[in-house]
Amino acid sequence: MTDGWANSGLDLHLAIDPRRKTASLEDAVRAAIRDGRLPAGTRLPASRSLARDLGIARNSVAEAYSRLVAEGWLEARVGSGTSVADRSFLPVAEAAPQAERALRLDLRGGIPDVSGFPRTAWAAAVRTALAQAPGAALGYQDLRGAQRAREALAGYLARAMGVWASPDDLVIAPGFGGVLRLVALALVARGARRIAIEEYGHALHREILSDAGLQPVPLPVDGEGAVVDLLDDLDVDGALLTPAHQFPTGVALSAARRTAVVRWCERTGAIVIEDDYDGEFRFDRRAIGALQALAPQQVVYAGTASKALAPAIGLGWGVLPRELMVPVLEQRRLAGAATGAIAELALALFIETGGYDRTVRSSRLRYRARREHVDGVLRQRMPDARLTGMAAGLQSLLELPDGVDEVEVSARAAALGLRIEGLRSYRADAVGAPSAGRRSATFVSHRPAMVVGFGAPPESRFEESVAAMIAAIGAAR
Ligand SMILES: Cc1ncc(COP(=O)(O)O)c(C=O)c1O
Repeated sequence: MTDGWANSGLDLHLAIDPRRKTASLEDAVRAAIRDGRLPAGTRLPASRSLARDLGIARNSVAEAYSRLVAEGWLEARVGSGTSVADRSFLPVAEAAPQAERALRLDLRGGIPDVSGFPRTAWAAAVRTALAQAPGAALGYQDLRGAQRAREALAGYLARAMGVWASPDDLVIAPGFGGVLRLVALALVARGARRIAIEEYGHALHREILSDAGLQPVPLPVDGEGAVVDLLDDLDVDGALLTPAHQFPTGVALSAARRTAVVRWCERTGAIVIEDDYDGEFRFDRRAIGALQALAPQQVVYAGTASKALAPAIGLGWGVLPRELMVPVLEQRRLAGAATGAIAELALALFIETGGYDRTVRSSRLRYRARREHVDGVLRQRMPDARLTGMAAGLQSLLELPDGVDEVEVSARAAALGLRIEGLRSYRADAVGAPSAGRRSATFVSHRPAMVVGFGAPPESRFEESVAAMIAAIGAAR
């Protein structure tokens, strides 16, 4: 290895390996930034003079600089040359021993930022709801949930989501997960055994289905959403879908597939569970109406307050086909007779007084700005990575540059204190795959990608989390 001195106003020792000049220059600059020898704001010599000092080609230096800029180590500004970027979180994160390093940054999918939760307005709604509630409202309730809450929700869902909803057909449960469990148990009680799920999805929901006695059978997902044309071949009694915004790939089910899935369930009598987990957060396209409105007696529409308000509210809702209400309420009864009526009444008041819409609108603006920030940072620093999926919700897919591995990015991110997961980790494993003798749904191969849950960090850590993600991808190259 040859040592060279970069003299151009910069007293820095850079060790360059003549066999891998560009890569070793990059390593040397990264190391110097990491150990504090090159503080943020330090101007680096022009590529021509550094090349001369190090005795290497100018192109090698220029290439190393541009890669370090892309990774977020350096900044290039027209007219002021190349300088060290501000990565103030790095020395702290890297100085701590691995075991003590807290994963204090989070970009996992499906997690809302609760730092904007309207505590004061919610507390006022709880106080008023409690003050107004007649004595009977504090006793054992209708198993579907408080009448006033079902009325408020039915009105909201019809107005904002295009759901075909009547308060009589609505059941309130602990979150979407609670609704899913009740419906799955009811389907099993009616004889169902197998349910199609999207190849990529929420692992907990697959577990809830299996635990209830339904075998999940994966359906491939492509650029038009779940490949529902394969449903006929899978011998399933129902399907769990995220038609408005596939979780986590972010694509919407195409119009042709919406029609196809409605035809399928009407023809076969199967039940579709429409998981509309983030329907409130569509940024730049007109909201597509709920699938449920096309076949209200075959589709369960399910939603949650977990994203629009907070998981701590603990409320989700299902609008059910009539024939499912009795078996679902039987499962609800078996889960215990008490209800969370106080939170339900507070939610009703919050919807009636416009607090829910106001909260949704301000969160939507915040999430939209976050997605735009991720997009902008990628364009500037990593043009060979791409954000895909609709501009909506709390997560997007980031297609990685060629040759970069998802697991490696997650590991590099963890070393920087950031939790982020690759698309593969959301994939259903082979356990639920169709059994031999039945045509199996062929998996569509997806490019390696990270699921960027831009909803997860609090506002104060968001940009830092994105910077750590860029650094992790850069380090995994
Ligand atoms: C696809 C999907 N559906 C639904 C939910 C909401 O679940 P819950 O209401 O149980 O919090 C989530 C939350 O992560 C999700 O990712």
